[in-house]
Amino acid sequence: MTSQNLDQIYKKISLVVPEIEWKFHAPIIEKINKLKKEKDAVILAHNYQTPEIYHGVADISADSLALALEAAKTKSKIIVLCGVHFMAETAKLMSPDKKVLIPDMQAGCSLAESITGQDVRMLKEKYPGVPVVSYVNTSAEVKAETDVCCTSANAVKVVESLGTDKVIFLPDHYLANYVQKNTKVKIISWQGTCMVHEKFTGKEVEDIKKENPGIEVIAHPECPPDVISASDFAGSTSSMVKYVKEKQPKKVLLVTECTMSDNVQVENPNVQFVKPCNLCPHMKKITLNKIYDCLKNETNEIKIGHNIAEMARKSVLRMAEIGR
Ligand code: 13P
Ligand code: SF4
Repeated sequence: MTSQNLDQIYKKISLVVPEIEWKFHAPIIEKINKLKKEKDAVILAHNYQTPEIYHGVADISADSLALALEAAKTKSKIIVLCGVHFMAETAKLMSPDKKVLIPDMQAGCSLAESITGQDVRMLKEKYPGVPVVSYVNTSAEVKAETDVCCTSANAVKVVESLGTDKVIFLPDHYLANYVQKNTKVKIISWQGTCMVHEKFTGKEVEDIKKENPGIEVIAHPECPPDVISASDFAGSTSSMVKYVKEKQPKKVLLVTECTMSDNVQVENPNVQFVKPCNLCPHMKKITLNKIYDCLKNETNEIKIGHNIAEMARKSVLRMAEIGR
């Protein structure tokens, strides 16, 4: 990477990354981008990754549905998934012949940790014949017990694709609530929550609206119901990005992990963002240095046992067929 390319990256993110920090990021960004070419690797990053990762080294930055679909399409030999463990596992399910690496194996998710395969078997016994829809924010073991996966981008569509009057919907209680409001299918939910989105309250949103007349509020469907009711729009992280890009609101509040506002700000310099800051500690485990180390040494490879992988893959492929 030439210093000109680096200058271009900094010009882009200077709005959200101070110059003092950039001095540390620039050399490692250069090394990662060089290594990526040498090793024929692709870097897929979730929308919650920091601006230096999102704009500096990622080939594709997206929501969890698009990351899964991109993983299936890539021709590169190695996928480095900058996000959390379930996203890397999903990439491996979509692209079983590729080497999938995650910069930090400990990057988990409170939703994925809220349910086990045994819990799903118990629910299936309790509700015989009722199909299971699992959010991708689950382990491969849970996906293996699932009929079809979904993300926040296609949850209602996936539920309705089954043609049944009842569906077991796991594990996010609030996403289940959001789906229930948008479908006639009866939703049987689980008690999982996202540790980041559950912290927002309707009162907080209402207060921000009072202090900022005319502000547009967009929330992730993992938020509690009073937050969604107080918002103008609810959708997956990429639908939130699209909303801002297309509508160019004067002032906006993205009710989600707050790093995303920085990433979207870079591409929408005329939009003013109000940023109450809730960070995902798991997403923030991914750093430039860890990306470099894992790619250089090809460590932290995702491995899934054959039987679980075969069963889990079916539920993810079924979701991919349904699409957005
Ligand atoms: P998206 O699928 O909307 O990107 O959300 C993933 C996630 O983990 C949100 O917390
Ligand atoms: Fe999981 Fe919430 Fe973090 Fe997304 S933001 S990875 S749902 S803990």
